[in-house]
Amino acid sequence: MSAATPEDLRWLDAAVRLATPARGTTADSPVSAALVVNPIDQCLIARAVTARGGHPHAEALALDSAGFDAAGATLYVTMEPCASWGRSPPCVDAIVRSGVMRVVIGQANADPAQAGVAEQRLQSAGVEIVFAAHQASAELNAGQALRHVHNRPFVTVALVVDADDTLVDPASGTARDWLDLERARADAIIMGASGARTRTATPVIARAGLATRTPLRVVLSGSKGVDRRLNLIGSFTGHRTAVIAQSDTAVDAPVSVEVIRVPGKGGRPDLAAALASLAERGKQSVLVEPGPRLLAALLEADLVDAVTLIALDGAGQGGPAAVADGRLVDMLAAADLEPVREQRAPGANLTIYRRRA
Ligand SMILES: NC(=O)c1ccc[n+]([C@@H]2O[C@H](COP(=O)([O-])OP(=O)(O)OC[C@H]3O[C@@H](n4cnc5c(N)ncnc54)[C@H](OP(=O)(O)O)[C@@H]3O)[C@@H](O)[C@H]2O)c1
Repeated sequence: MSAATPEDLRWLDAAVRLATPARGTTADSPVSAALVVNPIDQCLIARAVTARGGHPHAEALALDSAGFDAAGATLYVTMEPCASWGRSPPCVDAIVRSGVMRVVIGQANADPAQAGVAEQRLQSAGVEIVFAAHQASAELNAGQALRHVHNRPFVTVALVVDADDTLVDPASGTARDWLDLERARADAIIMGASGARTRTATPVIARAGLATRTPLRVVLSGSKGVDRRLNLIGSFTGHRTAVIAQSDTAVDAPVSVEVIRVPGKGGRPDLAAALASLAERGKQSVLVEPGPRLLAALLEADLVDAVTLIALDGAGQGGPAAVADGRLVDMLAAADLEPVREQRAPGANLTIYRRRA
């Protein structure tokens, strides 16, 4: 097996950029992009991203669009192609039929039913195959890997705070736009029952153009249970909602709300079991919008992979303190979360923290 060239890595970078906006739209399928490239003149012949809902897959769409021009070309894919029948035919068959000569793969497929199968099939068909160990491709589907390997989705915590580290519910403006973008990239938004009871702004995407992207909203029931009159679940919104509750906690919810029972303690669901129940429903990435107690519990359980911290300029704008004691940034550092990206806008600063490798 040959190694990836610098051109290969550039094409994979481009594929990741193409796939990134589709995060949160592919249900239980990985988010993938496929590029068909002429290896002689390095011109792009066709490109595609996994379709909304997860089917058809990117490879099938790109090869279909390339048609006869795929013969002799290089196919770049962010994830190892599927090799078995699911809701789509195996992409590996489409690749062999297309006449592609070389396939460069950004990341191995973590699904044990798929891992390594495409490699064998392509090699026996005489297609050259390159595994690039491409970091950005791995990050794109970190949730798919966690789901298959650790039975939980990728967990991002979203926090909007003012200069005093108090939690803010932004109704509009840049902070709300940033928060809505994070919501759109997730397969589910999780909030604690007390947050679902007291927050004024419900977790629904308001940003123009993304209104249809509000994912499943999940309320984590506490010891007081959940009451449809109090917990954002009784009134019709058109957005799907679920409640996760410990096995014997009282849950009063309309039939449209799925009630997921998991083990727990003191009336609270065990957080790892709660996340496992979402992974089993195909959720690959979740956004938690916690208050101070849920934030502390998630960090304590070492279940936070990333934090999106939106810090507003100025103090005195918020509600409860995000942390019971000390500064939020110190708490994140103590949990081995390091800042990896920052973005500034008038009046607000966004910092992405990720779990230290
Ligand atoms: N962005 C925001 O502005 C934002 C976001 C969230 C919350 N808030 C505010 O924060 C305040 C609520 O803070 P909070 O600390 O009570 O809410 P929280 O941290 O969001 O969540 C705590 C709630 O989740 C339940 N829960 C279920 N399983 C849990 C577990 N394993 N560990 C911890 N909690 C679990 C708790 O149950 P028990 O009842 O049994 O403790 C409680 O109802 C409210 O004023 C709310 O408006 C603001």
